[in-house]
Amino acid sequence: MCGIVGYIGKDNGINLVLDGLEELEYRGYDSAGIAFINDPKSNVYKEVGEVKNLKKIVQKDKPNSNLIIGHTRWATHGKPSIVNAHPHFNSDRTIYVVHNGIIENYQEIKNRLIDQGYNFISETDSEVIPHLIDYYYSKTNNILESIKLALNDLVGTYALEIISTLTPQKLYLARLGSPLVIGIMKNGYITGSDKNVVLEHTSKATFLNDYDLAEVSLSKLKIINLKDKDSNPPKIELLENEKTGNDLGNFPDYMLKEIHDTPETIKLAVTGRINPKQGNVKLGGLDSVIKELEHIDRIIIVACGTSYYAGLVGEYLIEELANIPVEVVLASEFKYKKEPISRSACVIAISQSGETADTIAALNKVKDYGVLELGIVNSIGSSVARLTDAGVYCHAGTEKSVASTKAFISQVTILTLVALRLKKSPDKISRKILSELQALPQKIKTVLNLENQIKELAKRYKDYSNFLYIGRGYNYPAALEGALKLKEISYIHAEGFAAGEMKHGPLALIDSKFPTFAIATDGPLLEKTISNIEEIKARGGPVLAVATIGNKKLKKLVDDVIYIPKTLEQTSTQLIGVVLQLFAYYMAHELSKNIDKPRNLAKSVTVE
Ligand code: G6P
Repeated sequence: MCGIVGYIGKDNGINLVLDGLEELEYRGYDSAGIAFINDPKSNVYKEVGEVKNLKKIVQKDKPNSNLIIGHTRWATHGKPSIVNAHPHFNSDRTIYVVHNGIIENYQEIKNRLIDQGYNFISETDSEVIPHLIDYYYSKTNNILESIKLALNDLVGTYALEIISTLTPQKLYLARLGSPLVIGIMKNGYITGSDKNVVLEHTSKATFLNDYDLAEVSLSKLKIINLKDKDSNPPKIELLENEKTGNDLGNFPDYMLKEIHDTPETIKLAVTGRINPKQGNVKLGGLDSVIKELEHIDRIIIVACGTSYYAGLVGEYLIEELANIPVEVVLASEFKYKKEPISRSACVIAISQSGETADTIAALNKVKDYGVLELGIVNSIGSSVARLTDAGVYCHAGTEKSVASTKAFISQVTILTLVALRLKKSPDKISRKILSELQALPQKIKTVLNLENQIKELAKRYKDYSNFLYIGRGYNYPAALEGALKLKEISYIHAEGFAAGEMKHGPLALIDSKFPTFAIATDGPLLEKTISNIEEIKARGGPVLAVATIGNKKLKKLVDDVIYIPKTLEQTSTQLIGVVLQLFAYYMAHELSKNIDKPRNLAKSVTVE
């Protein structure tokens, strides 16, 4: 988490850094700060809350600088406050550091430095870094050497940017486990945690690798790898300009806009990739591994959060359509799990951002196992895309709201394509599913037209403190995702359960104050779900259901019903997903929550 931006150049880069921080707010928005050098002086500004608060105080003073670092924070060590905000500095204010990641041995380093007479003002792990560099500077009189020695002492993960009044023409960057990109402009460099910061200014960039330390000056960009002791010329890449999705249009917030993007999202996911008449799927990103794909006999999907729930839908799809056993494992669990994995297995990482620390760690764990690693990623060129052998991009455009909506719809659609691609030979069901994928955008538009009904329902259900979501088969992962959506943006406690599990515990919760959101669309298990709903109703529990148009039985049984268009069971998640997203959205809206930036969360979870 936390976003980092840096600038070194011929112009005044203050606004450029502030705008970059706003772009990175999805990584954290507890507090923000910048430090800059205006040789021989330096200055630092910090503010609690969103970047706009920092912008206000900085722009009032109109400072001028061509060497700046900035940071937007998601608190790990110490509450959001001005002292805990980055940049952190040494006591003489000659060395400034912004950090993303966690320094695991910070207490040990801090104790060591305190014994040497160093004074700390914050509760953060990051503050040890400028003091440690200061300590080594007192021994070496050389900033670059001091940074190297300091990095050598750190245990944990970091993306770091460092400036010093002692080297007023240089910007230093270091990476271990957290991304950093350096954009090459005509008159300088713009750097940051994410290529979107850079893309505003240039399409020429270089990405740091783990253990890289970069020394950037106007005349030279030097990158040393501290592990290999190499100093290779930087590999310059041309960045692809994705659809940024920054334009809110007439929408009040990004979440609603992104839910409304979903018809287009599906089109973007399937365009040029499917042939419904023949039942064929072509995924160019998998071309290079066609041979290996023929021999896989087990798939392990690793992901976090909403991407994990998309993975669970993928399990149903791949097992049914491609007849290959699939396990879906939370990346945070997978990375520590000691299970046997043979070379014929394939690991698929699903990640919207491509930067989730646990998902990256899961991939790193199997790096030397000789298994095929694939990625289903939205963010082009992100770490997961780079780490995997091959993969499929979602092409959903930038998703800005913390709660994932269009990316989920896209991931499920891509998993459907992957399942059909892995199927030995296309048949009737392949053709039916592909035609239905083409019809989905229009059907989602019909679901979006239910917005007013869903808004009214949210008014009626907003005062409940608990919610149960239930479903069977394909509707089970949808129930889990529905519950996650509700809790993350409305802060209402919600749990998803397989409807068949009700009698094994959750039914004990049911009374007139505990509503259930039942996912009861057409499919082979519908009657069984209806029995579960009967059991809830018999115990006085309010039930709101999503059902397929034409199901009159449910209308009589439940308190409220939202009807979606007819579709196949295998393509139902996309339509149900939009209903669940709109419901969570309007619940949060009724409760006046900060929908795009829910408390305590961040979009890209780049620390463990
Ligand atoms: C965070 C976000 C979720 C997202 C999850 C996984 O928790 O708030 O929306 O699903 O991370 O992120 P990824 O980028 O790996 O899909």
